[in-house]
Amino acid sequence: MNHLFTPVRIKNITVKNRIAVPPMVVFTWADDTGRATQKHVEHYEAIAKGGAGLIIQEATCVNKNGRLADTQLGIWEDGQMEGLKKITEAVHRHETPILVQIHHAGVVGFAEKVVCPGDYEYMVKGQLKKVHKLTIEELHAIQQDFVTAARRASLAGYDGVELHACHSYLISQFLNRGVNHRDDRYGQEPELFALEIIREIRRQTPPDFIIGIRLGGFEPALEDGIAFARIFEESGVDFLDVSYGFVQETTPVVPKDYPFKDIIYAAQKMKEAVSIPVFAVNGINNPELADKILEQTNVDMVDIGRGTLVNYNWANDAKEGRDVGTCLYCKTCMWRVDPMKCPGKQKHQRNHPSMNAFYENNMKSPLSGKVVKN
Ligand SMILES: Cc1cc2nc3c(=O)[nH]c(=O)nc-3n(C[C@H](O)[C@H](O)[C@H](O)COP(=O)(O)O)c2cc1C
Ligand code: SF4
Repeated sequence: MNHLFTPVRIKNITVKNRIAVPPMVVFTWADDTGRATQKHVEHYEAIAKGGAGLIIQEATCVNKNGRLADTQLGIWEDGQMEGLKKITEAVHRHETPILVQIHHAGVVGFAEKVVCPGDYEYMVKGQLKKVHKLTIEELHAIQQDFVTAARRASLAGYDGVELHACHSYLISQFLNRGVNHRDDRYGQEPELFALEIIREIRRQTPPDFIIGIRLGGFEPALEDGIAFARIFEESGVDFLDVSYGFVQETTPVVPKDYPFKDIIYAAQKMKEAVSIPVFAVNGINNPELADKILEQTNVDMVDIGRGTLVNYNWANDAKEGRDVGTCLYCKTCMWRVDPMKCPGKQKHQRNHPSMNAFYENNMKSPLSGKVVKN
C-alpha cells in the first residue's frame, strides 16, 4: 500500500491518506424535518474512527422542494444546524475532516412540482411527464439556497462543501446540453449557474473553507467533462470528484485496453487538464485496486463508497493488511434500507465477530433500533 497511505493536501488541510468516503444518502433515519439524528452522528463518527482520510457527508438538500425523498437530510433552515453540528464535532474528535455535499434534485426530485433548467420531457411509471423551465427568478432563488446552505455548513463546523453537480441532479441538468435547452445566458454558458454559486460561496465563507465539486466525467461526453474541469479549476474550486453525469444522456467512450472503469479513465483525463486534486470513484472494492489506481493514474484520491458501508473500518483494516470485506452488489442499500442491514456488512461481521464489538461500542442507537432526535 505504497500510495494509499500517503498524505495529500487539499487547500489548507493535510489529509492523512488517499481514502475519501463519498456521499451516500441514508433515507431511513431522518424524517420530514430533514434534521440529523443521533444515528447519523454515530454513523459518521464510526466511519471517522475507521480511518478514512476524508468524509463527504451524504447529499444534504438546500431546499425542501429539491429533495429526493421526504426523509433526506436538509440544510435549508437554521434549525437543522444543531444536528449537523453534532456530526462535525463527532467526526472532528478523530481528526478527520468532513465536507457536506449540498444538493438539489431538480427534475428527478420527489416534489409534486419539480424544476428543470429547460423544458424537459421524461417517462415516469410509463407516463410522459413534461417539466417547464425555471424562470430567472426561480433560478436565482435556488442559487441563493446553495449559498446560504454553504454558509450554514461553515457555521456548523464543516471543513467545506461539495457541490452535487452530477448523477442527473439540478447542476448536472444545467451542465448537460442534452437537458439544458435554455436560450438565455444560463443555456449559452451551461456552467454559469454553478460558477455564480461558487463565486458567492467563496465571498461569504472564510478563506480556508473548502469548495469542491462532484462533476460528471461524461457530461455528456468526455470533452465536456475536461472543459468543465478547466473552467471550475479557474473558478477557484479546491478539488474535483469525478463520477457519472446525467445518466440517460451520457456517452462514455474509453480505449478498449484501459485497465480500469470508464469513469476512472475520465477522472484521469480530467486530471491531465488541471492541477487541483481529483478524486476517482466506482467499484474500487479492495485496497490493492485502490493502490493500483493511485499508482497507474494521476488521480489524487480514491472514493470508497459501498466498501465503507460493508465495513466502517475499511481504511484501518486495509492499512493493517486485514480482510476489508466484500460488497455483494445486491443493491439493498439503494432501496432505502438501514445501512446496518447491508448483507455484505452482515457477512463481514459473521466472518469477523470482533466487528460486532466495533459496532456495539460505536453505534448503540442503530443496533437498538432507537431513533434519538436532537
Ligand atoms: C446507498 C448509496 C447512496 C448514495 N448516495 C449518494 C449521494 O448522496 N451523493 C452522491 O454524489 N452519490 C451517492 N452515491 C454514489 C456513491 O457516492 C458512489 O459514487 C457510488 O456508490 C460508487 O462508488 P462505490 O463503488 O465505491 O460504492 C450513493 C451510493 C450508494 C450505494
Ligand atoms: S453488500 Fe449490498 S447493501 Fe451492502 S453496500 Fe454492497 S450493494 Fe449495498
